Amino acid sequence: METQFFKDFVSEKSAEEIEDLAVKIRTLMTYYRCAMYEVETKFKVLNEQLSLLHERNPIESIKTRLKSVNSIKEKLDRKNLPANISSVENNMYDVAGIRVICGFIDDIYMLADCLLKQDDITLIEKKDYIKNPKPNGYRSLHLIVEIPIFLCDDKKYVKVEVQLRTISMETWANLEHRLRYKKNLSPELLEKTQTALLECAESSSMIDEKMQEVRNLIEL
Ligand code: GTP
Ligand code: MG
Repeated sequence: METQFFKDFVSEKSAEEIEDLAVKIRTLMTYYRCAMYEVETKFKVLNEQLSLLHERNPIESIKTRLKSVNSIKEKLDRKNLPANISSVENNMYDVAGIRVICGFIDDIYMLADCLLKQDDITLIEKKDYIKNPKPNGYRSLHLIVEIPIFLCDDKKYVKVEVQLRTISMETWANLEHRLRYKKNLSPELLEKTQTALLECAESSSMIDEKMQEVRNLIEL
């Protein structure tokens, strides 16, 4: 358990209260981890079924990540939100994240539809950065979904962030992400890199569309 998260809470608290908080945080993170497994399994099941139907796998790979307790605290602070359990549950949509990487754009929408049709999934928010890319060139389909976790004697609804993208969108986003953490680039080099990244986003978007067209021709 990361200690940083406790710093604001522990000073005035008794040992029992600290232990109680630690248990609550551990429990919350377990719920998020379970929800992430559930959604990951749903995509794996869809991949199996769709590969039976179409004799190819729509999913190239799946990545999951659970936000660290420190990152949760840092984000709550950044957004001026209270740092407590219900604030995380009500305000944070990306504690559990799952990224689904596909070969083709149509598979992204097909998988999103298949997921959202499932009767235990509730769509909370959808952002289509493929149809409406960000000004820097970022593309992906983002869904925030809510899914029930079945416990021994309880049912808990948990939010999961799903990002669906093509392989080239993933490569681009990873490269752009690295640029964000480069702190000592000169303004000239920064601008040059941003312009080059935008060009990469536009070219790779054209390639994604072209490959989709070719596949459509082959699979008529
Ligand atoms: P935050 O979750 O607070 O970042 O804002 P938001 O909820 O408005 O986020 P949004 O749905 O736009 O993006 C959520 C996630 O998508 C981020 O945490 C990143 O993983 C990814 N993302 C969004 N925009 C970019 C971008 O411009 N570049 C890269 N590399 N990733 C991005
Ligand atoms: Mg977010």
